[in-house]
Amino acid sequence: MIPSYANFGGKIHGGILLSLMDKVAYACASKHAGTYVVTVAVEQVEFLQPVEVGQLVSLLASVNYVGKSSLIVGIKVIAESIKTGIKVHTNTSYFTMVAKDEETNQPTLVPALLLETHEEARRFLEAMKRKELRKSYQDELNNAKTILTVEESLPLLSNERCVFSGSRC
Ligand SMILES: CC(C)(COP(=O)(O)OP(=O)(O)OC[C@H]1O[C@@H](n2cnc3c(N)ncnc32)[C@H](O)[C@@H]1OP(=O)(O)O)[C@@H](O)C(=O)NCCC(=O)NCCS
Repeated sequence: MIPSYANFGGKIHGGILLSLMDKVAYACASKHAGTYVVTVAVEQVEFLQPVEVGQLVSLLASVNYVGKSSLIVGIKVIAESIKTGIKVHTNTSYFTMVAKDEETNQPTLVPALLLETHEEARRFLEAMKRKELRKSYQDELNNAKTILTVEESLPLLSNERCVFSGSRC
């Protein structure tokens, strides 16, 4: 990680890491699909440890799941101190990519995934579960948005660190 990747606090910008992850997700997904792919969603972006200038960052990626045109790539980021050899797992994220047909620019079918190990089967099953949970979370969120009115929900703010004045429309 070179100094120009650092933020004002001297640590590596989260955006630099996300950009690297997106490139790795592209390479991994397009290699499996045999077409170009686009990023459609990124899940679980939490940087658990800061990455320092001078550390060697490795990104380990695998296609965990394929649907019809979508692929989920799991990416594990590891930062290593070159001096001490100590490695830190900074985050794991999941990128959903969609394969596109270059001529029509429409989503196109990707090859099925060959699961050779129990670990690969576990990742596929876990991705299925995450997809299902995301769908129900999204449905619940949409439902909450439609039933939520500020007037009725104001008591919920009483224990929060905010002050509602309502002085502007
Ligand atoms: C990705 C894109 C092609 C999906 O288009 P769409 O009209 O929703 O197409 P479909 O409904 O056929 O969905 C295609 C696949 O994407 C998946 N998908 C669509 N929206 C998704 C989302 N928000 N999260 C996860 N998967 C999603 C669908 O489940 C489907 O998967 P499947 O084929 O394996 O069943 C379209 O949204 C797009 O081009 N987005 C812009 C992507 C881009 O430019 N990214 C660069 C970063 S800005």
